[in-house]
Amino acid sequence: MECDSVKLLAVRGSPFLIGLVLLGAPLRAAPTVIDGNLPPGVKSCAGCHADAAAQWRSSAHRFSSFNNPYYRISVEEFRSERGAAASKFCAGCHEPVLLASGAVDRPIAEASPEAQAGLVCLVCHSIDGLPDLSGNGGYHAHVSTVPLEPPGHGARLRPALLGDPKLCGSCHKVGLGPEITHDRWLRGQDDYDAWQASAAAGNGAGAVWRAPPSRCQDCHMPLEAALLGDAAAKNGKIRSHRFLGANAALPAARADADHLSRTRQFLEGAVSLDGFWGEAPGELLVVMRNRRVGHRFPGGTMDSNEVWLEAEAFDAAGAAIARSDAHPVRAQPVDGEGRPLERRDPQHTRGVAFDTSLSPADPQAVRFAVPADATRVVARLRYRKFSLAYAKRACAKVPRAERQRCEDVPVVEIAQVEVDRKEDAEPGWERLVDRGLALAASLADSASAAQPFLERARALAPARPEPLLGLARLYVRLGQTDEAVAMARAAARLAPEHPAAAFLEATALERAYRHAAARPAAERLLALLPEDRAALALVARVRGVVGDATGALAAADRLISIDPELEDGLYQRTLALADLGRAAEADVARARYLDHRVATEIDLALREKWRSHRSPDAPDESIPLHVHTLKRLP
Ligand code: HEC
Ligand code: HEC
Ligand code: HEC
Ligand code: HEC
Ligand code: HEC
Repeated sequence: MECDSVKLLAVRGSPFLIGLVLLGAPLRAAPTVIDGNLPPGVKSCAGCHADAAAQWRSSAHRFSSFNNPYYRISVEEFRSERGAAASKFCAGCHEPVLLASGAVDRPIAEASPEAQAGLVCLVCHSIDGLPDLSGNGGYHAHVSTVPLEPPGHGARLRPALLGDPKLCGSCHKVGLGPEITHDRWLRGQDDYDAWQASAAAGNGAGAVWRAPPSRCQDCHMPLEAALLGDAAAKNGKIRSHRFLGANAALPAARADADHLSRTRQFLEGAVSLDGFWGEAPGELLVVMRNRRVGHRFPGGTMDSNEVWLEAEAFDAAGAAIARSDAHPVRAQPVDGEGRPLERRDPQHTRGVAFDTSLSPADPQAVRFAVPADATRVVARLRYRKFSLAYAKRACAKVPRAERQRCEDVPVVEIAQVEVDRKEDAEPGWERLVDRGLALAASLADSASAAQPFLERARALAPARPEPLLGLARLYVRLGQTDEAVAMARAAARLAPEHPAAAFLEATALERAYRHAAARPAAERLLALLPEDRAALALVARVRGVVGDATGALAAADRLISIDPELEDGLYQRTLALADLGRAAEADVARARYLDHRVATEIDLALREKWRSHRSPDAPDESIPLHVHTLKRLP
């Protein structure tokens, strides 16, 4: 049986972009049609893959296009400002079907099947190559009919890339070029590199805590029981096509209670909270730690997500007496005037005012000042996918009956912690390490507050490397090279394979300009983690300074093959080429470096402008460990 009715046609979009059009009538062989309301192409698969299709049908991938009001408002603004053709950029990720048919270039019939199709099965199931790892919808989709008999069926629909996070990276990594910003190049949302750089991908050279690695597919496509009898089920299970994430807005708007409750469950506990009374009276330290997120938290778009930590204080009688303002946990992109972006308008981004997002491995502390008569404090980490103002604008065109649901974006509580005034038992060593690591990340002049906690953890758990690694990191931060090296080596004796031991030793020495001494630890680290960007960057620098320009170039080239736009890689490549006397190539490399340099001075100037728009009594989120003061309730 040949599936000649599912035909694909490749069309070139932007230089790196190949999209798809789906032609033809639904498959005649489909035994059970579960849903007549599926876009072209999907119907052909749904007959035999009822579970995959039903799951996909409630996923954000199904609503990636003009069938999604939260997206539509933003892409319409972009199209009206920059022209329809420019929105090919968005289309490679959001509406590949429209891109492939060429319809994006023209006014779009928003109700047409193509504009409502979303990210259909055959896009992911045809991607067999990437020109490089710069994302931006740069994928090559293989175009051929779909045989229905094994082994041809599986061979056609499971290209090697399907199980690889690089597949996801082709769309989950955004670079905003000058053609979009009409200004400098900027990194957009990028969960791929955040994952690749972390212990979740088996990398994360500096991570003190390490969990077993997992792919995007493991977390976002876990095995799920195939209750509808999917033809591809193995042991009754298939990889879930719900692609659960943080988007509670879409299922709420569509009144899809099942997907909404699954999204809540996916989010709950993804980050944990812990609380400690500080040294100063009334000071409360809340420590967040990433538990189940394989990249920075929050992932995805950060300008429109609202994620925040808040605290409320109670008196002995149990009455609420004071409340904090919200500590945002996210990055804040701003426009050229330093104003926060509020309309999901990437074309106006000029820089980032602050980034309080949580790293995949390191705990982060937030300070609260609590009234003296408070006996109990409750802190909560909450998530609203879109701000209410954004949702109101986005939902204005939604039919009246559904508008309220679309506007009322649910708030999901990710974690909660209750801290009593009376001291409880001494925290275990793990909590002490978390507290120490979180404090060590603050400004250098207050980082030393971390020391007693890390020392106590070391005394409680003498066989564990983590307290020693925490101390090594603290000493690196304080510029105490010999102490840092001693701690890192002591940790290496306990756990020779722990990458952070080699990383911290090499970093301490390199920062003290002791490059020759740093080299053995740096090379040891690279042998442990050959794909780690921090390891490669360190090795490139150390090799370069000790005169091994060939070795430095090799490391820089590896860095660029992992992330072609990585500033550090481009810079090290420029230096190595110059050292090797390859001046012309060095000039090309330098130009590329300058194009992708993170211009700190521009970000600092934008931050100053951003500060002028803030209310003067709000804490400055760009300063680590600033204090949020709880205000008395009337
Ligand atoms: C007539 C029934 C039928 C249709 C229609 C069909 N499939 Fe399948 N598919 C199967 C069967 C049976 C298997 C398991 C055996 C195999 O791998 O070939 C399978 C397996 C798969 C696999 C797993 C392959 C592997 O190697 O593990 C993928 C992916 C897949 N199908 C995707 C699709 C997509 C996408 C469509 C729509 C374009 C589609 N199928 C249409 C019957 C079908
Ligand atoms: C966003 C990309 C994407 C889309 C869209 C997508 N799939 Fe998949 N699909 C995958 C990936 C990735 C895997 C394999 C996951 C793995 O093995 O780790 C997969 C696996 C499968 C399998 C094999 C089952 C299994 O347990 O491995 C079937 C069948 C399948 N998909 C069918 C479909 C159908 C039908 C649709 C449309 C309704 C669809 N897919 C849409 C990415 C996608
Ligand atoms: C062709 C582009 C493309 C590919 C390939 C792709 N995605 Fe997506 N993904 C999108 C777009 C676009 C959205 C946003 C849809 C929307 O909300 O408008 C999205 C949304 C998501 C979300 C958010 C879901 C939610 O409910 O919050 C997750 C999680 C996700 N994708 C995971 C993956 C994983 C894992 C892979 C690889 C197996 C993958 N994606 C491959 C384009 C893609
Ligand atoms: C260890 C598990 C894990 C891995 C691995 C992982 N994620 Fe996630 N991801 C999560 C969790 C949990 C969330 C929800 C919390 C958040 O938004 O950060 C999430 C959120 C997201 C979101 C945001 C959804 C939204 O609505 O804002 C996207 C997009 C996403 N992940 C894509 C990816 C991609 C792409 C990869 C691989 C490069 C990946 N994830 C790897 C666990 C994981
Ligand atoms: C490289 C792929 C890619 C490109 C290019 C891209 N996006 Fe996205 N976009 C995504 C992904 C992936 C998400 C989902 C992230 C999440 O769930 O947090 C997303 C989310 C969004 C959202 C949030 C609302 C929603 O539906 O989840 C808006 C709005 C949006 N994109 C607008 C645009 C516009 C407008 C453009 C073009 C100017 C564009 N995007 C270009 C990948 C892309």
